[in-house]
Amino acid sequence: MSAILTIPGPTWFVGCGNMGGAILDGWRMAELDLSPVTVIRPSGKPVDGVRVVTSFEEAGAAPTLVVLAFKPQKLGEIAPQLASFVGTNTVIISLLAGVEVATLRGPFPEAMGIVRATPNLPVAVRRGVTGLYGDVADAELKQQIGALFVALGFAMWMADEDKLGALGAVAGAGPAYVARFIAALAKAGMKRGLSEEIASTLALETVLGTAWMAASSGESMDSIARRVASPKGTTEAGLDVLDREGVLDQLVAITIEAAARRGSELAQEAKSASLAETPRLS
Ligand SMILES: NC(=O)c1ccc[n+]([C@@H]2O[C@H](COP(=O)([O-])OP(=O)(O)OC[C@H]3O[C@@H](n4cnc5c(N)ncnc54)[C@H](OP(=O)(O)O)[C@@H]3O)[C@@H](O)[C@H]2O)c1
Repeated sequence: MSAILTIPGPTWFVGCGNMGGAILDGWRMAELDLSPVTVIRPSGKPVDGVRVVTSFEEAGAAPTLVVLAFKPQKLGEIAPQLASFVGTNTVIISLLAGVEVATLRGPFPEAMGIVRATPNLPVAVRRGVTGLYGDVADAELKQQIGALFVALGFAMWMADEDKLGALGAVAGAGPAYVARFIAALAKAGMKRGLSEEIASTLALETVLGTAWMAASSGESMDSIARRVASPKGTTEAGLDVLDREGVLDQLVAITIEAAARRGSELAQEAKSASLAETPRLS
């Protein structure tokens, strides 16, 4: 890979749904040259400015970088087809939630490096959060891979896969939870007589403004809440409901636990499927 921020060629995106598309949107917004990218997807659905094919055989020269952007359940089906195109010069970046590097090493024993990435959807607008973990030994290569995700927002290498899983549980899934909170705030506004359009705008701008203020000032959430709520005032009455017996904290904690449990199940399914369908190397 080159020292300046370029996408290495050839780069294959195996799958390009919500997350693969979001990464390409972010790179496009960052004005990276997408010409080294080929998307391989069964539907052949077009991707703006990117070559799309429906099989590995049509993809052309063997890839330097492969981004696995399909669902973890598909690993057992796709890995054996992809394996013969992955050589000692290929780096694999896997977006597959919960699927460990050791599992991915099974079908791709020769790959130069295998990196797990847990981006979240706001990478599409370069405000994403991505955790990275892999078995890449070369520091420069690691830096180059990291830079591709720094172009999409905040990105950091994690110490181990448990920490990567923790980051994914909070930030990977987080936009879905935040979206639900914004919708709930809007619904409450509508109950108070606001139109859907106005209530939605107020809810969105309130969350955006609060996050922006905290991000730019470094002020803690506790301090912001205290600054909004005057003693015995209206906000304090509302916070009393959210804080009663830690109800909001508990709700968020069990939400994330449920997602983490499902992540473990998916990882186990992927491990079993990949062991079942990958020919054993003696
Ligand atoms: N969405 C998120 O916020 C998020 C967050 C963190 C991690 N992830 C991870 O990102 C990965 C993709 O998730 P997603 O939400 O983007 O899924 P998605 O929208 O359902 O997209 C799945 C993609 O896989 C492709 N695909 C299916 N079978 C294939 C095959 N045999 N060969 C090649 N491609 C195939 C589909 O192709 P067609 O489009 O042609 O049908 C589609 O582009 C998952 O592993 C997930 O764990 C997602």
